[in-house]
Amino acid sequence: MQPFRFIDLFAGIGGFHLAMSSLGGRCVFASEIDGFAVDTYMKNFGINSAFDITQTDEKDIPPHDVLCAGFPCQAFSKAGKQNGFDDTRGTLFFDILRILQHHKPKYILLENVRNLVSHDSGNTWRVIRKHLIDLGYTIPSEPIIVSPHQIGVPQLRERVFIPGILNTDGSAEELTIDVPLSKRNITSAQTVLCEPDDDSFRISEYEELVLNAWDEFLQGLKQRVLGFPIWASEFGSACTIPDLPQWKQGFVQKNRALYNANKKHIDSWLQKYNYLKDFVPTHRKFEWQAGASIKSVWEGIIQFRPSGVRVKRPTEFPALVAMVHVPIIGWAKRRITPREAANLQGFPLTYKVNANHQQAYKQFGNSVNVEVVKYIAKQLFAG
Ligand SMILES: C[S@@+](CC[C@H](N)C(=O)[O-])C[C@H]1O[C@@H](n2cnc3c(N)ncnc32)[C@H](O)[C@@H]1O
Repeated sequence: MQPFRFIDLFAGIGGFHLAMSSLGGRCVFASEIDGFAVDTYMKNFGINSAFDITQTDEKDIPPHDVLCAGFPCQAFSKAGKQNGFDDTRGTLFFDILRILQHHKPKYILLENVRNLVSHDSGNTWRVIRKHLIDLGYTIPSEPIIVSPHQIGVPQLRERVFIPGILNTDGSAEELTIDVPLSKRNITSAQTVLCEPDDDSFRISEYEELVLNAWDEFLQGLKQRVLGFPIWASEFGSACTIPDLPQWKQGFVQKNRALYNANKKHIDSWLQKYNYLKDFVPTHRKFEWQAGASIKSVWEGIIQFRPSGVRVKRPTEFPALVAMVHVPIIGWAKRRITPREAANLQGFPLTYKVNANHQQAYKQFGNSVNVEVVKYIAKQLFAG
C-alpha cells in the first residue's frame, strides 16, 4: 500500500491509529469526546482529537483514503427500524454515513461488539450493510468476527469488523477476509507478561486467603472438573429449593449433589474457613472454567467477579473490558499491570501508557486490538 491518509473516528487512545500508521498511513483527523483518552492520544501522537463527531461538519474533515471507526454500541439503538438513510439519524452510525457520503474514502474499517450480529435478530447488521452498499461500498456478505487469540495474542475478545472498498465502477468482486479457525489453547499468557517494578499489583492477604480456600476445596474433591458454578451457601442446605428460574434450580441441585458426594471433605473445609462467614458474599461462589487443563487455582488466570471467583486456563486472558475485574495471574499472585494490558491489546513498547492505572485499564479495555486491525487491514488493502 502506498502512503495513505486516514481518519480515526471514536478514536479512544488510538488502536486504529497504531495499526494504520504501521501500514504507512498518516492520520489527518481524529475524533473523541473522553478527555482522558484525548490526553493520551495527544501524548502519543501529537494530534488533538477533542472533537464531538455529532457536532463536526463533514466538510471540516480533510480528505482521506481510509475511514476507521470503532463506534460505540449506542450507535444502533435506532438502526434497523426502517430502511432509509434517515432511520439512522440521531445515531453515531449516521455520523459515519454522512462523512462517507461526503468524502467517499476508498476504504472503510469499522469495529463493534460481537452482539452487533445478533442485535434486533440480525436486522441491524443487514441495515448497516445495506447503507454502506447504497453508498457504493463492497462489504463482505457475512460479518467478520475475529478474536486476538486466533492470531497468536493470548486474549479471548470476539469483535465484529466491517471492512469495505469503494466500488467506483461497479466491477468489484465480493470482499473476502480470511480468518483463522477459532482454535483455543494455542496461545500462552506468558508471551505478554513482564515483571512489575514494585509490589503494588500483588493480591491482598485476604484475596490470597480466599484463593487458598478455593484451591483446598478443589484439591479435596473426588471429581475436579466442575461444569457448573459452585455456591457454598448450598452445602449442607436442606431447605426446599426456592422459586428460582429452571437453570438456577439445576445449579442448586448440582451443588447439593456435589456436597453429598464429598461431605467429609467439604464439612472439614467449611469448618476450617469458618463457613466462609468472613468472605464477602461474591467470594463464596466459585467458577472453575479451566476444565482439566490445570490442577490448581494458582495455575490459572483468576478474576473476582460479581458472579464469583472465576478461574480460567492460562492459555488466554478473558477480554479486557472497562477493567473492574483486572485479571490475576495465579502463579504470580498479582494482577496484570497496565503495560501487560497494553501488550494484550497489541500496543507497542514505545506507547506512552496513562500514568493513572484505573484510566489506563479502562482505556485498554475500550480499545481495539492493534494486531487484529493490522491483520484485517492488510487483506483489505490487498483486495
Ligand atoms: C469503543 S471506544 C473506541 C476505542 C478506540 N477504537 C481505541 O482503539 O481506543 C468508543 C469511543 O467513542 C467515543 N465517543 C462516543 N461518542 C462520541 C462522539 N459523539 N464523538 C466522538 N467520540 C465519541 C467514546 O468516548 C469512546 O472512547
